[in-house]
Amino acid sequence: MAKECNVALIGQQFMGRAHSNAYLKVPRFFDVPIEPVMHTIAARDGKSLEPFATRWGWRHWTTRWRDLAADDAIDLVDVSTPNDVHAEQAIAMLEAGKHVACEKPLAGTLDDARAMKAAAAKAKGKTFVWFNYRRCPAVALAHQLAREGRLGRVYHVRANYLQSWGGPDTPLLWRFEKKRAGSGAHGDLNAHIIDMARFILGDEITEVTGAIAETFIKKRAKLGGKRGAMGRSDVDDCVLFLARFRKGAVASFEATRLATGNQNANFIEINGEHGAIRFSFEDMNLLWYFDNRDDARTAGWRRIMCTSAGNHPYADAWWPDAHVIGYEHGFVNMAADMMRVLGRKKPVVPLPDFADAYETQRVLEAAMLAATNRAAVKLSEVK
Ligand SMILES: NC(=O)c1ccc[n+]([C@@H]2O[C@H](COP(=O)([O-])OP(=O)(O)OC[C@H]3O[C@@H](n4cnc5c(N)ncnc54)[C@H](O)[C@@H]3O)[C@@H](O)[C@H]2O)c1
Repeated sequence: MAKECNVALIGQQFMGRAHSNAYLKVPRFFDVPIEPVMHTIAARDGKSLEPFATRWGWRHWTTRWRDLAADDAIDLVDVSTPNDVHAEQAIAMLEAGKHVACEKPLAGTLDDARAMKAAAAKAKGKTFVWFNYRRCPAVALAHQLAREGRLGRVYHVRANYLQSWGGPDTPLLWRFEKKRAGSGAHGDLNAHIIDMARFILGDEITEVTGAIAETFIKKRAKLGGKRGAMGRSDVDDCVLFLARFRKGAVASFEATRLATGNQNANFIEINGEHGAIRFSFEDMNLLWYFDNRDDARTAGWRRIMCTSAGNHPYADAWWPDAHVIGYEHGFVNMAADMMRVLGRKKPVVPLPDFADAYETQRVLEAAMLAATNRAAVKLSEVK
C-alpha cells in the first residue's frame, strides 16, 4: 500500500476547488508512491467551510490557518490564497517543518518572494509552485521536444495571455488592488507565460528591453460597499514587454484582461532553426509542431493530439486516444508529480519550487521596472 501524505489546503474558492479536485483524483488515476489524504481545509468564511469540506471530502475544517503549523499530523500545506498572504502563510508552514505548495505568482512583491525563497532554502520541507500549465501534456511535450534538440537554436518566443473579463463592469475584486495582488494581469497572466517559456526553452531571461503597463479602468465598484461606491483600481490591466534570453532568443510577452473577444487565450509559439512549436490553451490537447527539416513538398504544421498513452506525458493516466482532457487535469497531473517527488521519484517533467518561481518573479519585476522607467532593465540588476 502506498504511504500517505496529510494535506491541508488554505483557500476554498477558485483554486481551492481546483486543488481539492486534484487531491481527490490523484489516487484514483495515478499510481503514486505517496497518496494525498485530504486532512484539513482552511479559509476565512466559516459558514461555507463546513459544506465545502463535506462536498470535497476534507476531514476537518478551520478558519484559523495558523493552527495548521502546530498540527503534527499535517505533512503538506497548500497555499491558495490571494498573493499578499502567500509569504506569511508559506514561511510559517516551512518553519513548522511542513512541505509547502503555493499558488502562482510566488508572491505579490519581489521582497516577499525573496523571503519565501530564503525560507525554503533553510527548510527541511520541499516546496512546489502551481504553474499548472507546465502539466498540460502538450506543454510538457514541447519541453521534451526542445530538450531533444528538435527546435535547434531558438530565435523567437512569442507569448501572450489574453483575457477579457476585466472590463469596467467588473467590481473591485482583490485582483485589482495592488496591496493584495501586487500587480494585475502581469503577475496573474504574464507569470504563467514567463514560466512556460523558461520551462520549454530551459533558458533564462537576461534583459527586459522595453515594456508598457497600462491601467485603462481606474475606478471600480466597491464590493460590499454602499450602492454606487467606487474604489481605486491601482494595478495594470495589461503589461507588454520585450526580452532577451541568455542563449540569444528574443521574446515578446503580453498579458491583458481587456482583450475583447478572448477568454482564456494562453498562447506560446517558439521558432528555432530546426523546428517550431505552437500551443494555445483553448485547444489544450493539441501541440502544433513544424519540422524545418521535412521535405519542402510535404512540410507543414503537424497537429499533434497529445493523448497517446506511452507516448505523451501524463496520457497513461487518462483516457483512450483523443478522449480529451481539460483544465482540471493539469492540476491533477501536478498533484501526482508532487506525490512522486515526496516519494523520492522523478516527476514526469520538472516541477517548479520556490527558487525556480523566484526567477519568474524577477522577470515580472524587471518588466514592471522597465515600464515605469521607460528603459531597458538587465536581470542582473534585479536581485
Ligand atoms: N494556477 C492558476 O491557473 C490560477 C488560477 C487562478 C488563481 N490562481 C492563484 O491562486 C491564488 C488564489 O486565487 P483564487 O482565484 O483562488 O482566489 P479566490 O478569491 O477565488 O479565493 C481566495 C481564497 O482565499 C481565502 N483567503 C483570503 N485571504 C485569506 C487569509 N488571510 N487567510 C486564509 N484564507 C484566506 C478566501 O477565503 C478564499 O477561500 C492567487 O495567488 C492566484 O493568483 C492561480
